[in-house]
Amino acid sequence: MQFLYAIVMILVLDANAKIIDTSEHVEKLSEANIEFTLNLYKNLIEGDPMKNVMFSPVSITTALAIAHLGAKGNTAKQIDDAFMFSKIEDGRFHSAFGELHGLLFDKASEKVTAKSSNRVFADKHITVFEDYQDSLSVYSATVESVDFKMPKSAVKKINDWSSDATNGVIKSMLEEDGVNNDTALLIINALYFRGNWDYEFDEGRTKRRPFYVSKDKAVETSFMFQNEHFKYAYINELTLQVLEMDYAGTDYSMVLLMPENFDLAKVEANLNHANLTKWLSALEHESVDLTIPKFKLEETLQLQEVLPKMGVTDLFDRQACDLTGIANRNNLFVDQIVHKTVLDVNEQGSEAAATTSVRTQCDSVAFNPISFVADHPFLWAIRHRQSELLIFMGRFSRPEGPLLGHDEF
Ligand SMILES: *[C@@H]1O[C@H](CO)[C@@H](O)[C@H](O)[C@H]1NC(C)=O
Ligand SMILES: *[C@@H]1O[C@H](CO)[C@@H](O)[C@H](O)[C@H]1NC(C)=O
Repeated sequence: MQFLYAIVMILVLDANAKIIDTSEHVEKLSEANIEFTLNLYKNLIEGDPMKNVMFSPVSITTALAIAHLGAKGNTAKQIDDAFMFSKIEDGRFHSAFGELHGLLFDKASEKVTAKSSNRVFADKHITVFEDYQDSLSVYSATVESVDFKMPKSAVKKINDWSSDATNGVIKSMLEEDGVNNDTALLIINALYFRGNWDYEFDEGRTKRRPFYVSKDKAVETSFMFQNEHFKYAYINELTLQVLEMDYAGTDYSMVLLMPENFDLAKVEANLNHANLTKWLSALEHESVDLTIPKFKLEETLQLQEVLPKMGVTDLFDRQACDLTGIANRNNLFVDQIVHKTVLDVNEQGSEAAATTSVRTQCDSVAFNPISFVADHPFLWAIRHRQSELLIFMGRFSRPEGPLLGHDEF
């Protein structure tokens, strides 16, 4: 029996990239990808209204696109449908997404690093087709041969590679039993993302205060504060505050969606591509007193548990799976897809503070700043502004720490 492990691993710290053409392909592609993203998000939040959620749509899409390059028949069609690859006509998905992938990543500057690394680790006993190997170049991916019959050294090789791909932040992405002598292939996308805010926070203004998990429960945590000009919108129907914070270089930004009440579920129910586009296009520069928690999240998702709910079933089914475009084996199937993300939101990058504070903006409400206090559950996303692609998305529902009752805060 042959297994295919697709492991998606990501590390984020904060964010940034480069101006790209908004060609018709890119527009369609980002619309399709956002629809997939919001759909996945809704599947991930099912069951537990209070849990933190985090994933990287771009990373998941890349790993699945790499599998899709070798998938045929219904296996390919199910990925097409769930990820909406078919919205790009005539199989041009891979060239369009590959181009976008190349433009989004591998841009490093002093303040921003965005790096996506892709590799297929194949057991040395299987022969990966030349055609498949060639097709991977669209994602700058290569195939590396390993001996999965020697699981220990295979794990070491893979961990060394991914440690390198994440600048050492994730040193051992695979557990020792992460592969076994049945493993045939591992597809890995490692995304590393780090950026300084355009307007950094002053550490001296960071204070402890309660984050309200619900009306009568709180967790004490550190909040950062600043008054600056941010893009802001208020959506009446949902009493929703929307705020966009740029990363240095302004190619990437973080969007916060926070209802004034605790009814995040209502916002989630209204979350679709058209609404999101409408809300983001309503953003205007405003003077804002911004209070947001410092947070550090680490998430591991088992995508083989959620993708079948979105119609991707054959890929994980040893009988039905058709990955015959990858290698001359008709018994390849995907055993698991592990998706790891780490996000660290902090004041970050004080050395840039002096240069970023000088900025002129049209300012009509300077003496009456809007108050944006993210002290209760909110949604966040890190997006590439030009293409509108969401690089990361999540929900922040509770900080770490003991839950305090009403009279304790
Ligand atoms: C594969 O591993 C299992 C234990 O995980 C072992 O029992 C089996 O003998 C191994 N097979 C080979 C071919 O090494
Ligand atoms: C969100 O989209 C739905 C469906 O298009 C629409 O009925 C609803 O009014 C939208 N909500 C908001 C707040 O714009």
